[in-house]
Amino acid sequence: MAKKPKLTPEQKEAQEFMEKIVSLCKRKGFVFQASEIYGGMANTYDYGPLGVELLRNVREAWWKRTVIARENVVGLDSAIIQNPKVWETSGHVGGFSDPMKDCKECKARHRADHLEADVCPICGGELTEAREFNLMFQTNVGALEGSSSVAYLRPETAQGIFLNYLNVQNSARLKPPFGIAQVGKSFRNEITPGNFVFRTREFEQAEMEFFCPPDEEAKWYEYWKQERFNWYVELGVDPDKLRMRDHAADELAHYSTACADVEYLYPFGWGELEGIACRTDFDLKRHSEASNAKLMYFDPQTKEKYTPYVIEPAGGINRMALTFLIDAYEEEQLEKDTRIVLKFHPEIAPVTCAVFPLVKKNGMPEKAHEVESLLRTTGWNTFYDQKGAIGRRYRRQDEDGTPFCITIDGDTLENNQVTVRHRDSMEQETVEIAHLIGYIANAIQNWKRS
Ligand code: GAP
Repeated sequence: MAKKPKLTPEQKEAQEFMEKIVSLCKRKGFVFQASEIYGGMANTYDYGPLGVELLRNVREAWWKRTVIARENVVGLDSAIIQNPKVWETSGHVGGFSDPMKDCKECKARHRADHLEADVCPICGGELTEAREFNLMFQTNVGALEGSSSVAYLRPETAQGIFLNYLNVQNSARLKPPFGIAQVGKSFRNEITPGNFVFRTREFEQAEMEFFCPPDEEAKWYEYWKQERFNWYVELGVDPDKLRMRDHAADELAHYSTACADVEYLYPFGWGELEGIACRTDFDLKRHSEASNAKLMYFDPQTKEKYTPYVIEPAGGINRMALTFLIDAYEEEQLEKDTRIVLKFHPEIAPVTCAVFPLVKKNGMPEKAHEVESLLRTTGWNTFYDQKGAIGRRYRRQDEDGTPFCITIDGDTLENNQVTVRHRDSMEQETVEIAHLIGYIANAIQNWKRS
């Protein structure tokens, strides 16, 4: 067996950091290995109680910003399995492939364009010539197995939007510029998934196709690039670890006039977090030609008829969640020990408030449950904990990324005041129960990463 290439000190540090993240995710219930009791399923993950809340909050923050906040963007939820002609027309059957090389010794499969040297990065063995490998998962629909029933799991949510362009435009009576947004699962038979949930074969995408008059393409491209970059910064991601990378001409798809990636500096290097692409009128025209549907816009006032151009911001919810998690992770050296804290923006923190009775007696648990029920009416995810010393309970919540801990003590029963402890500064404030919801809402709104 050939010798495995040695890791550089930076690679070793990155690996150790990722190991910490993976272990925290398992210990705290963010992410588990899928099929774990059967020995696992490589590069496939399940999300636990904190993980689903994180995904849900990221999805909701994206949806609120992309759809709810705008009068000209609407939503869609299209099917995962569509008519196979869709993927022939879109170019995915013929061209959605990556070059791969196999190791002749350990049989591992690698993406040829990701290899730093022409030897196997796992064992150093000799590699085969590069071959194209289609990334779509193929399946059969119905009882018969044969070419007539072949279908594909969608590799992107975008095509479902193009297919419904006319349905949505007519039913919602929209005039360009307008957008159609969709969040949902996509599937790619990635040759080299990896870096935990960064690249997996099953993942959730958040995409928006923004249809505009052709002469407004450049304007909206710049707008969406800025908008998507700002969203990450506003949700607390360190701007020094974010950059916008414009694609070089030889990286662009033949139909695309421009494309840029929001990139994040992961422990394993700069990586694509989300892409913003000018797709021109390519998709609508291709589907029009192949289906005979007239996927155009007719302006009743000017009598003008045209195929809109498309700007597409396309991200992945799992990759966003991983990025928020990695970026929020801090180990703080305190006087006596180190605390691990996830400094999530309160809007995406899996748990918003934790409520503790100082001790498990003298009416404090009952009062704490009362406060907890009150907080739940807001829709914030709230957690009750009465086990262990108060300091340990705070530390457990720091690791979950809970921004506010509310403690009920003996005085609360007399004066209806609670102590609010802030995760980031660890400062404590006394607040009247009657003002608690407003106090927390205000703190969420004014939160700044420290
Ligand atoms: N419709 C355009 C499109 O799908 P993409 O760059 O292939 O573009 C968009 O995918 C986003 O989806 C990526 O920026 C990434 O966040 C996410 N994504 C793509 N492949 C992924 C994978 N295998 N695992 C996790 N997320 C993935």
